[in-house]
Amino acid sequence: MRAMFDRIAGVYDVMNSVMTAGLHHRWRERAADLAQLGPGGRALDVATGTGDLALALAERVGPDGAVVGCDFSEGMLARARDKDASGRVAWEWADALALPYPDAAFDAATVGFGARNFSDLERGIAEMARVVRPGGRVVVLEITTPQKPPLSTFFAVWFDRVVPAIGRLAGDPDAYSYLPSSVRRFPGPEGLAAVLAGAGLVDVRWILTAGGIIALHAGTVAA
Ligand SMILES: C[S@@+](CC[C@H](N)C(=O)[O-])C[C@H]1O[C@@H](n2cnc3c(N)ncnc32)[C@H](O)[C@@H]1O
Repeated sequence: MRAMFDRIAGVYDVMNSVMTAGLHHRWRERAADLAQLGPGGRALDVATGTGDLALALAERVGPDGAVVGCDFSEGMLARARDKDASGRVAWEWADALALPYPDAAFDAATVGFGARNFSDLERGIAEMARVVRPGGRVVVLEITTPQKPPLSTFFAVWFDRVVPAIGRLAGDPDAYSYLPSSVRRFPGPEGLAAVLAGAGLVDVRWILTAGGIIALHAGTVAA
């Protein structure tokens, strides 16, 4: 898994824009808003990849805040560092399933398109909840499977045929046939909300956007 992300790091941003018609930036902005950070806040972006969500968090906390973007792929972290010329974010190697941060160290933790890759989803979400202070926020942005036509039909064609074909063109068929299968394995919106609640988060809510293909979940760490 880690090797796969190292391999695709170079084409990852372009592929995202192609596959989402550029909408992924807007979804990350909404995820950053749900973290409810203010100036001076401390935030962690888990499975940060090439770093766009961490950079959106850095905008919200300003110069007095602190944002850490962590990932277990050095290839992805290298891309993120290149993007962040002014060094607004601390880019750190970390496994989402065993975060090297103390309890309650952050005001919010986010994960964008990463939770679906966790080999143990409950543990990954529990780790995010652990490192956030009581009253702070945990936000999960993820692809979800639409239930109703016509989106469910479009989704099946897009994900099962178009995305793997683009992956073949990009020279990495394995990585981009992995994407649809990882989405299908991932719980639907209710199931993911239950995982957040199971990690001790309260006031768990979700928003579906892009016709039900994208889910934004957020919860608050119990006081
Ligand atoms: C699809 S990319 C998403 C990157 C980024 N968050 C975004 O919004 O574009 C998934 C990322 O999750 C990372 N990842 C998957 N499992 C992980 C784990 N257990 N610990 C740390 N990073 C992980 C991968 O290395 C990859 O960079």
